[in-house]
Amino acid sequence: MDYNFSGKSGLKLPQLSLGLWHNFGDVDNFQIATDMICHAFEKGITHFDLANNYGPPAGSAEINFGKILSKQLKSHRDEMIVSSKAGHFMWDGPYGDGGSRKYIMASIDQSLKRTGLEYFDIFYSHRYDPETPIEETVQALIHIVRQGKALYIGLSKYPVDKAIKAVELMKEQHVRCLIYQDRYSMFRREVEKAHFGLCQELGLGYIAFSPLAQGLLTNKYLHGIPADSRVAKGVGFLKENDITPKLINTIEELNKLALERGQTLAEMALAWVLRNKIVTSVIIGTSSVAQIDDNLKTLDNIRFSEDELTLIESVLNRKDL
Ligand SMILES: NC(=O)c1ccc[n+]([C@@H]2O[C@H](COP(=O)([O-])OP(=O)(O)OC[C@H]3O[C@@H](n4cnc5c(N)ncnc54)[C@H](OP(=O)(O)O)[C@@H]3O)[C@@H](O)[C@H]2O)c1
Repeated sequence: MDYNFSGKSGLKLPQLSLGLWHNFGDVDNFQIATDMICHAFEKGITHFDLANNYGPPAGSAEINFGKILSKQLKSHRDEMIVSSKAGHFMWDGPYGDGGSRKYIMASIDQSLKRTGLEYFDIFYSHRYDPETPIEETVQALIHIVRQGKALYIGLSKYPVDKAIKAVELMKEQHVRCLIYQDRYSMFRREVEKAHFGLCQELGLGYIAFSPLAQGLLTNKYLHGIPADSRVAKGVGFLKENDITPKLINTIEELNKLALERGQTLAEMALAWVLRNKIVTSVIIGTSSVAQIDDNLKTLDNIRFSEDELTLIESVLNRKDL
């Protein structure tokens, strides 16, 4: 595992990080969750990405992570980077969603309690909230750092102009914005337009989520919907309707290119994200230890020839698929 500096900071993150959005809630198998976290850490995945609402039920991923950490990995806390977030709906009433100081300050205290941690390494504003003045959200994040409840601040899913504003506000208070988190995969490339440039210019790291488009960029849906898949479980946003014949054709073509490179499609899709030098780390989601091992194999070859990149591009742009 290689570790990359997050932008112009002194903090290094592993090329692959593990996300706990799915598969670590109370609806999931606790033993598998434990095995995945321990195995990932053993293999050099030092960064675990949480949010207040991960589960289901919301909050249970933080509780389960806390249990696993205290039982299996407590003495390794200083070798880990643990992040959490607040920004999406978490509790009823006017104070459990968005970007207000009231919500963010209460939420981090709840997240610390659930995980049993004394601090988070990175705490994110999980989304831009157009109803809250950005100054208020940023001030709350800065306060959290000053209080020692988080070491670094991150932003997730901010429009470019709002991200620039937030980073400027932090700079004025001599607090660094460490990292920007958003989706990036062969199927979702919006951030290439402006967010990558913003990270480069402002010295922020970039951490990519849903690099496999929630499992679509693997060979798992090529012959129907497996019973143990995210789609079949039906707890998230990925739905059966998303898997159209056109999409399957594209995945089949990409799968062929991956096999020619001697990789699984999952490996090629992760390598494709990591090939971009602006990407500090890629957050994988997994439902088994075997998937972690498959994804780790990616790191054996993250180089692409110009021809390979052109072929991938032509598949992604083909109108007839
Ligand atoms: N900031 C935000 O708003 C935000 C939003 C979304 C995600 N995130 C973060 O990003 C993390 C990753 O997101 P994601 O779970 O959508 O990532 P993803 O890597 O795109 O999808 C993960 C899913 O892909 C499948 N998979 C993974 N490795 C595989 C392999 N080798 N072979 C076959 N299938 C494989 C598994 O599906 P099955 O479960 O079907 O086996 C797994 O659950 C989250 O946990 C979270 O930490 C952040």
